[in-house]
Amino acid sequence: MSCPIGVFDSGYGGLTILKDIVKEMPEYDYIYLGDNARTPYGTRSFDVVYKYTREAVLKLFGMGCKLVILACNTASAKALRTIQQVDLPRIDPQRRVLGVIRPSVEAVADFTKNGHIGILATSGTVASESYLLEIAKIHSEKGFLVTQQACPMWVPIVENNEMNSPGAVFFVQKYIDMILQVDPQIDTLVLACTHYPLLRSVIDLFIPKEITIIQQGEIVARSLRDYLYRHPEMERELSRGGQIEFLTTEKDGMFDKMAALFMQADVTSRHVEL
Ligand code: DGL
Repeated sequence: MSCPIGVFDSGYGGLTILKDIVKEMPEYDYIYLGDNARTPYGTRSFDVVYKYTREAVLKLFGMGCKLVILACNTASAKALRTIQQVDLPRIDPQRRVLGVIRPSVEAVADFTKNGHIGILATSGTVASESYLLEIAKIHSEKGFLVTQQACPMWVPIVENNEMNSPGAVFFVQKYIDMILQVDPQIDTLVLACTHYPLLRSVIDLFIPKEITIIQQGEIVARSLRDYLYRHPEMERELSRGGQIEFLTTEKDGMFDKMAALFMQADVTSRHVEL
């Protein structure tokens, strides 16, 4: 039976992660699942994000995935721990669900010179304080100063393909100005939502050149390769057909058009119910 790697996001944003994972490891099979019908997750409560994410993970398990990547910061912040600690031991201890926050947090130390770090994320990720907690845990001795800024309008702008509109410029500038006012010394800024790379050309207009912007795709892809190297028992299970299947909880035609933009390739998806 085929054993693809499952990649899940609340909508299109996870495609920015999938693209880099596939570039790094084209040999495996993948299933991408976007919960476009219920996006955005970023403004929803812990319980709702957990419920939706759990449903998506179970769907991907049911389709043969033994390894699922939550290519969504909000789901990683609000659902990952409970899924790992409560659900997996009950469902199947051999399966794995990994998130995007840990690899991103590990990477910040490679970029910052002055220890002033900015996190741009959804309201949900900011409220969870996952980045603050993980940075404090992993880099405890380094004394990093971390400033968070919620950017609640950015995901709807991306999901509605308004990335090149005047509204996008307004809201991108607004949140960047806000975070740089709080800490003008920030030298490393994490785009801690998988949708945000799609706003990168607008973001670049307002970020001073000396600030390093961290996008998660390459970081997550490298971290996954490293994980599979360290876990040959999982790597052996994965099927190697180089196929990608796209699933969406919305109308498939709508998904295909937008996803093709993000993947820079033709996409044919299938509608699923969770
Ligand atoms: N792309 C997701 C993230 O990385 C969530 C966007 C949303 O659904 O609000 O946080």
